[in-house]
Amino acid sequence: MMISYPERLNLAQTPTPFHALDRLSELLRAEGAQCPRVWIKRDDQSGSLTTGNKVRKLEFLLSEALAQGCDTIITAGGVQSNHCRAVAVLGAQLGLKVHLLLRSDIEPQPVGNLLIDQLVGATVSHYSHHEFKKLHQLFDQWQQYYAQQGSKAYSIPTGGSNGTGLWGYIAAAEELQQDFVRENICPSHIIHATGSGGTQAGLTMGFKLLGIDLNVEGYAVCDNNAYFQRKVSEDIQQWAEQYAVPVDVNGLSIVTHDQYIGPDYGQAGPEIFAWIKKLAALEGVILDPVYTGKAFYGMVKDIRQGRYSNASDIVFLHTGGIFGLFAQQQKLDY
Ligand SMILES: Cc1ncc(COP(=O)(O)O)c(C=O)c1O
Repeated sequence: MMISYPERLNLAQTPTPFHALDRLSELLRAEGAQCPRVWIKRDDQSGSLTTGNKVRKLEFLLSEALAQGCDTIITAGGVQSNHCRAVAVLGAQLGLKVHLLLRSDIEPQPVGNLLIDQLVGATVSHYSHHEFKKLHQLFDQWQQYYAQQGSKAYSIPTGGSNGTGLWGYIAAAEELQQDFVRENICPSHIIHATGSGGTQAGLTMGFKLLGIDLNVEGYAVCDNNAYFQRKVSEDIQQWAEQYAVPVDVNGLSIVTHDQYIGPDYGQAGPEIFAWIKKLAALEGVILDPVYTGKAFYGMVKDIRQGRYSNASDIVFLHTGGIFGLFAQQQKLDY
């Protein structure tokens, strides 16, 4: 099917690399696991400063902002938000003002993503977890503030996950289709970290539109299965209404694994840091402790438990996050 995309900016370094992690598959087989061939889609290589999944969504979101004549972008996230960092960097590249609403209960250290936010000149307002519960009001207040200043602000929800942002991973599904053709494979599962649900929603819809029978497996880094069922459905519904595409949302398979979140969002146990070290040395691929480390660890555990034993090829989508690792580097214990 020919997918007809709305206007987008060319911001991501795509196509991102796609390759097999054969030493990993061998290692798991040597341990006795029935391990399929594991491939990796390197969306961590979507740009050095824009690394990760967010830039794909932002190609569509920022295009919409410019089309609406906006000169300021407001968005929100955790203090080490990769999404906010990508918006800050792209805002500076496009000459847009960026205001970040960041969640933190303690005085944040200017490291990792926050350091980059500051370097590229974003305005940052910090809020406690409690204050962040009224995020909608904060967005409204700042929208009004910028209107009074004679500016026009465009608000992007947490993680860039909404009907417009969803296009990013519809386009990524099409790119993956080309990767599969080139490598002559038909993977049965694609595994990725899910947080605000937009990547999961875009991939689910993308493969559906392309008629590719592939299970999208979101590994949660916060919230539970029921949350993602609702959030992913809502994002797809919003997209379908916004772009007048008929979709039976209830008929879509939305699969989330919520047992690998660990202590909390942003907090990982020693097993995650151990796997970050292991994969880095084994394959030269660096994961992060907030998102990809947890999803990758979950995938490895599920491979060991036989979940993917009938598959010949599976894909891990590396959604970025490396700057978040620098904010927790002491836990690597070198
Ligand atoms: C590195 C990384 N991976 C995965 C995700 C989750 O993506 P999504 O918010 O689309 O669920 C995020 C979101 O913040 C992220 O920064």
